[in-house]
Amino acid sequence: MSDTLVLPMFANMHCHLRQGVMLRNVLPHSAAHDGIILPMPNTDPHIANHVDVSMYFVEILNELTSLGHEETELLMTIKMTDDTTPEEIEQVAEQGIFGVKVYPEGKDSAGRELTTGASHGLTDFFAPRAIECFAMMAKHGLKLLLHGELPEADERYAEAYFIPTLLRLHELFLDLQISVEHVSCEAMVAAIKRLPSHIVGTVTPQHLLFTRAEMLSNPHLKCKPTIKTVFDRNALWSEVAVGNPKFLWGPDCAPHPRAAKEKPWEEAANGCFSAPIQPELLATKFSERHLEERLADFTSGFACRRYGLTVPKGTITLVREPLKVEQEYGGVVPIM
Ligand code: NCD
Ligand code: ZN
Repeated sequence: MSDTLVLPMFANMHCHLRQGVMLRNVLPHSAAHDGIILPMPNTDPHIANHVDVSMYFVEILNELTSLGHEETELLMTIKMTDDTTPEEIEQVAEQGIFGVKVYPEGKDSAGRELTTGASHGLTDFFAPRAIECFAMMAKHGLKLLLHGELPEADERYAEAYFIPTLLRLHELFLDLQISVEHVSCEAMVAAIKRLPSHIVGTVTPQHLLFTRAEMLSNPHLKCKPTIKTVFDRNALWSEVAVGNPKFLWGPDCAPHPRAAKEKPWEEAANGCFSAPIQPELLATKFSERHLEERLADFTSGFACRRYGLTVPKGTITLVREPLKVEQEYGGVVPIM
């Protein structure tokens, strides 16, 4: 990298903004570098329908406006549950929302939820009503955003065990645009690569830049899906390095108060907070691998081309200097 690097503002295809105080606390960090934000609907309570999503849109837009970032494009989503109807899918599609997030319902052997905000997920992907919902999404071009893990499985293999569900969904709804969120293992990378161009994956900094050993010794790196082996991490890097347009930047920045993270491992909340340092962290690691020329496509170009979005006009200027990281940002500790 020369001394400065100028990039288009990012298309952040997976972001947890929460609501209320936490939203106000974390949004400035994302708005500073993201020209496009896809807010996840696993708030408490979750964003379930056209009314919730309108209210959530207004809440975020008000905050963006007060920050002077009202031009940020929001790609709104709802969370699908067993109660979601095809009529509701049609309604949100008419409202112009971007996609529908699905968390598979289920608990692990210790009775724990799949991840933060995953309760009341989808019990059966192939139940008649779910099938009708997916068909409606395909009809209206709504994206299916999948938390691709089998909840009952050992966390190391839970994503790999989800691959048959992904393949069957694709086989049943050939036109449905699917994004497998926060891809974490080589097997899923390989599955996405084999599928057509409208089946993509999002990539997080935690799965790209950290190791399983680092995660296991730092609750602030605890997330779902978990960070896997170096072999899995290399599979993600390979796609980023060749500039595979099926792998999009979706950092899954998921803030939790310090107290919810600094607990015995089993009780610590899942979710990594990275917004304040995302561009600097990425630029440093891409630079070490001599991949700066891949950054703009990875962080905005691929998503914009895939979904017909306008590349953000604003830019981010990064200066080559040691990364400055605060201990915490408003009570939330960043990954590092
Ligand atoms: C996310 C959160 O905290 O909302 N946590 C995580 O570990 N990734 C949940 C999610 O990504 O859906
Ligand atoms: Zn997430």
